[in-house]
Amino acid sequence: MIKRVRSWWKQKDPQLLPERSMDNVPEHVAIIMDGNGRWAKSRGLPRIVGHQTGMKAVKRATIAADELGIKYLTLYAFSTENWKRPKDEVDFLMRLPQEFLAIELDELIQKNVQVRMMGDRDGLPQHTLNAMEEAMRRTAGNDGLVLNFALNYGSRKEMTDCMKELGKQIQEGRLSPDEISPELIDRHLLSGGMPDPDLIIRTSGEMRLSNFMLWQLAYSEMWFTDIYWPEFNRNHLYEAVAEYQRRTRRYGGLT
Ligand code: FPP
Repeated sequence: MIKRVRSWWKQKDPQLLPERSMDNVPEHVAIIMDGNGRWAKSRGLPRIVGHQTGMKAVKRATIAADELGIKYLTLYAFSTENWKRPKDEVDFLMRLPQEFLAIELDELIQKNVQVRMMGDRDGLPQHTLNAMEEAMRRTAGNDGLVLNFALNYGSRKEMTDCMKELGKQIQEGRLSPDEISPELIDRHLLSGGMPDPDLIIRTSGEMRLSNFMLWQLAYSEMWFTDIYWPEFNRNHLYEAVAEYQRRTRRYGGLT
């Protein structure tokens, strides 16, 4: 059975969707968008074309997440380790958020999407930060899909900062070590206020976490695909969610 859906946000995305189950949809899906460079290389194109095309896949994933009723979509857009890349590539990646938001922000507002950013603001170029802050400000009142960009994000840095903050609170007598709990740590991470991802997706055939949400992914279901990120479309997200719906989560217990 297939279902024809409305085609808002014109794009090259399959218009015929597989029948979907709206039961047990993951509340939070996180994606490691990998394979932009290889996608470009396989076509004899510069790496930046892969990133540019990857931006279109961001749009498709957002649409699909919204259609499915996912509440939080976290996208790993730039890691604390990505600064090691050539300056031209870093500069290009830093321009993508503003390019994406210049094109899509009005539509995101209309679709009740709330934009968030998770990552270290220090070190980000001012133009990138300005674009993100404007998007966050203009969508702050929306209560639909939360589109959370992990930008200049690294899990070890996030955890180190959390430990420093808790250490400081102990030193100043505002916190006792006995009060430290998983919930308290959660609240001091950059993802504070969001539930842990139920489902983590990584594209391009790589099977590692690359310093992404190491604490928060403790019990997430994992879904890997060989396709490169620029090819990712709504059907891939539907497939990942359908696979998630077939799994039994036990959290270390028994069913
Ligand atoms: C990893 O692929 C991808 C990135 C480091 C960047 C991801 C960014 C986007 C998909 C665009 C983001 C868009 C917005 C709107 C913020 P890779 O370059 O490591 O690929 P490779 O492993 O094949 O070289």
